[in-house]
Amino acid sequence: MKKTAFVTGANKGIGIEIVKQLGEAGWKVILGARSAERGEAAVSELTSKGLDIEFVQIDMVDLKTIEQAADTINKNYPDLKLLINNAGMPGAFSRSFTDTKEEDLRKAFEVNFFGTFRLNQRLFPLIKHNEGTIVNVSTDMASLDHMQNAEFTLNAFDYNSSKTANNAMTLSMAYEVKNSSAQVFAVTPGFTSTDLNGNTVGGKSKETAAAIIVGYATDGKRHNGEFLDEKGVYAW
Ligand SMILES: NC(=O)c1ccc[n+]([C@@H]2O[C@H](COP(=O)([O-])OP(=O)(O)OC[C@H]3O[C@@H](n4cnc5c(N)ncnc54)[C@H](OP(=O)(O)O)[C@@H]3O)[C@@H](O)[C@H]2O)c1
Repeated sequence: MKKTAFVTGANKGIGIEIVKQLGEAGWKVILGARSAERGEAAVSELTSKGLDIEFVQIDMVDLKTIEQAADTINKNYPDLKLLINNAGMPGAFSRSFTDTKEEDLRKAFEVNFFGTFRLNQRLFPLIKHNEGTIVNVSTDMASLDHMQNAEFTLNAFDYNSSKTANNAMTLSMAYEVKNSSAQVFAVTPGFTSTDLNGNTVGGKSKETAAAIIVGYATDGKRHNGEFLDEKGVYAW
């Protein structure tokens, strides 16, 4: 029987590639996007390739749509095996702590932390029941070890700290399922040229980034409580 996955922020960038690769691997995928127009366009593109993709609208800053999306999934897709929390935004990608504006910090937290928290709380029971997997998409720059030791980092306090908080959520959830077959872990795709960073040159392709996330999500190994990059375990 086909397995079902839900991917947020999946109308473009790494997200749509995750959906495509899961679909090609035989999954039914629910493609989440905040814009019905952009989401349905992405679904059409993928279904025209013969993939089994359905659309659910979800805006990570709008509690009503999060509740509706979670209700739809709990009701219509009770066999959900995989949730990939991919939706993300950079705040203003602040250049330093000093330059960070509280407004941008709040915007980044609203999507990357609170929105993801709200969705996770509503789908965690189903994933636990189905002994499934939740992947919280993170970033190298959220790692406190990286912040402390990297010779060079983008000191984007708004974006980075919202993903550090997301990492703490991953560990809290993982602790709760440590004695079960369900699992929760974080993956950083690493620097990837997408709209998130103004398609800065030098990053990996969206296909390569998605393959890292899909690889860990479907390799059949237990990754509960890990933070992973393309090479393996990454320091929190
Ligand atoms: N690119 C990198 O170098 C990099 C590195 C490490 C981690 N990541 C992470 O990878 C994930 C995907 O990012 P990307 O690089 O593919 O960026 P992207 O191309 O900008 O895609 C981001 C996706 O998130 C969606 N999104 C933004 N705000 C949302 C909201 N309020 N509600 C629902 N969806 C929302 C966007 O929808 P719209 O089209 O409607 O804006 C879009 O579908 C993010 O979590 C990011 O933090 C990226």
